[in-house]
Amino acid sequence: MARSVLTADQFSKEQLVHLLDLSSRVEKALGRRRMLPILNEYILATLFFEPSTRTRLSFESAMHRLGGRVITSVGMQFSSLSKGETLYDTLKMVESYADICVIRHPMEGASQIAAKNISIPVINGGDGASQHPTQGILDLYTIHKYKKLMTDKIVIAFVGDIKYGRTIHSLIQYMSHFTGEFIFISPEELRLPEKYRKYLDEKRIPYTETEDINYLKEADVGYITRVQEERFLDHKEYEKFKDFYVVNSEMLAKCRSDIIIMHPLPRLSEISTDIDDKPQAKFFDQARNGLYVRMSLLLDLLGVPLGELDK
Ligand code: CP
Repeated sequence: MARSVLTADQFSKEQLVHLLDLSSRVEKALGRRRMLPILNEYILATLFFEPSTRTRLSFESAMHRLGGRVITSVGMQFSSLSKGETLYDTLKMVESYADICVIRHPMEGASQIAAKNISIPVINGGDGASQHPTQGILDLYTIHKYKKLMTDKIVIAFVGDIKYGRTIHSLIQYMSHFTGEFIFISPEELRLPEKYRKYLDEKRIPYTETEDINYLKEADVGYITRVQEERFLDHKEYEKFKDFYVVNSEMLAKCRSDIIIMHPLPRLSEISTDIDDKPQAKFFDQARNGLYVRMSLLLDLLGVPLGELDK
């Protein structure tokens, strides 16, 4: 695998299958032991210039569980970027202080710029409305746990903000390595960007675009997303779409009984809490899977011996 994780399309199917297997191994090992002291000599830097709960905390937890150490910088206002320091100079400092880093930044391609300019592995923790490649791998891992990803055709319905939903952009590229079909359910204004439609067309992957939430009934996986308020230039547009779809127990009752409902979180009104205790609701499991997947990514990127995992 490349030494950095920047976009979903950098991964081959073999690399994805390897990461799914490694994540499963990590999950089993964590079932036996609370700590897996493998990265004791390493420091992770988490640089989050946009808000985050899951991505930052799960990466930090992953590093701690692996015996490593973490340094962190959260929010532009608390870094010297707010005093006018460039991202380049900031990154040169991080290179001196850490062995690997995760960056979340509002600018598309920020982590690619970082990877070009520093010598330590860079992980894209979300760049604007573009990509969120590690979220996509944990989403894939979740689908793999509950569905027959390696053998069956999986119909995924993506619901909500497909234009700005970066986790969707990464997941469709990962899913393109497996047998699947996509249904994109969104208002016309929030449909899949042209770049990704072209990607699917070139790979001859079938997909349907619709505004009709009833297409969720055809899906094996319902992947619901928040309307990404922070990406809208006109707040009135956001207000128009924010409550466009709500998946609740009434809707769930119309779906396949074995559908799984996923959401990258945070959620607002698009998933009603009345489905939280239904067996189909997998979004909290999905977030937990982020720990196993991010542990396996840290191990893989740092290229350390993995014998400790089988003790
Ligand atoms: N799914 C996700 O990226 O969550 P956070 O924004 O809380 O990191």
